Amino acid sequence: MVDIYILEAVKNLKTQLSGTLYGPFEQIVTLDGLPLKGPLSDDQLQIQSKGGVIVENGTIKEIGEFVALKEKAAKVKELGNHYVLMPAFVDSHTHLCFAGSRAHDYAARISCKSYQEILKHGGGIYDTVRKTNEATEDELLTFLKERLDAQLRYGVTTCEVKSGYGLSVDQELKQLRVIKKVNDDHRIDLVATCLAAHVLGPDFDDPSEYLKVISNELFPALTKEGLTNRIDVFVEPEAFSFAVADQYLSKARQAGFEVTVHADQFTSGGSELAIKYMAASADHLESSSDEDIKRLANSPVVATVLPGASIGLGMNYAPARKLLDAGCCVAIATDWNPGSAPMGDLLTQAALLSAYEKLSSAETFAGLTFRAAKALGLTDRGVLAPGKRADMIAFSTADYREILYHQGKLKPKLVWKDGSVAL
Ligand code: NIG
Ligand code: FE
Repeated sequence: MVDIYILEAVKNLKTQLSGTLYGPFEQIVTLDGLPLKGPLSDDQLQIQSKGGVIVENGTIKEIGEFVALKEKAAKVKELGNHYVLMPAFVDSHTHLCFAGSRAHDYAARISCKSYQEILKHGGGIYDTVRKTNEATEDELLTFLKERLDAQLRYGVTTCEVKSGYGLSVDQELKQLRVIKKVNDDHRIDLVATCLAAHVLGPDFDDPSEYLKVISNELFPALTKEGLTNRIDVFVEPEAFSFAVADQYLSKARQAGFEVTVHADQFTSGGSELAIKYMAASADHLESSSDEDIKRLANSPVVATVLPGASIGLGMNYAPARKLLDAGCCVAIATDWNPGSAPMGDLLTQAALLSAYEKLSSAETFAGLTFRAAKALGLTDRGVLAPGKRADMIAFSTADYREILYHQGKLKPKLVWKDGSVAL
């Protein structure tokens, strides 16, 4: 009789044991419980010391003290080193689907030619458009995959990728089909965005005419093929004027798309449109005025800053400190592209931004994780908490402050995507 009870008890215990426990981690910086908007101090960070994470079916089941969690997990993976664990990074703004180099542009820029001047003379973005249009789908696929492999090494497991080097209905479709294909078989989750409104299509003279063709012909194809539900526009005199972008965003909204805006990079204006159309994010903001900042802070639009573009162009950083103090939700992304931001190392860029703009570790990591996820409309990642995706990165150190201190030199040693080791 007693034996039966013992057997039953053992059986019950076994069925309660589930998931895989990873750890111990010197520190787990969960980034949970923090506000979506405004400034953050490091003492607001929730840190589990000597921690462990139980992962089940790709999501986090429990976080706690490693020793205590050992009793609850079906499997234990002991890591045997000092590690700091945090949510994997989200890069919410990239142009990674391109062919060719723009080293010659860069050389011209550091010899004092401006980005806008190069573009005006048919170079810059147009140069990449020519090379990307010449590339086959297979070639683009290979280039994109290689860059995403690098993203994983940088700790990025969710990455937005824009088109915008096609600039015709067919070529934009080609780029977006490549992005979709790669998303199907790469470990990183991709979020595609259509940036046909990057600059005027080379076959057109009139921006309004060009965008009319894009909205009439490309928008329905995007929806039909399930390529993207996001539309972006570069608002700048050299790209699309405030008035033309206004009409285009209105059409995109009417057609049911989510929108995002390349805003206030060289001149102010785009962020106002982003707010008008309730964009998911307004990105760049290097030239935002105090009025723009106030408006952004009073809106749900994520203010995405792109230090890689400031570094690539030798320009001032976006006013991230001011944006946070005003109450904005500030995300940090790479803008990785062959022209203005060729580096593409998110952590290095964020560390430099934080040094110059005086962002706390909490603000910087928030900008790389849950605040960036918000810019993509994703609420299932960016924090480590029960029920969230187990997208996690571990650094070989015992103190999270070492990460920004090394200014990008300390890279993640381990990367998990949906609970399984991706690096
Ligand atoms: O976000 N500013 C517009 N578009 C990109 C650059 C693209 C390129 O130069 O190829 C950016 O900086
Ligand atoms: Fe960009």
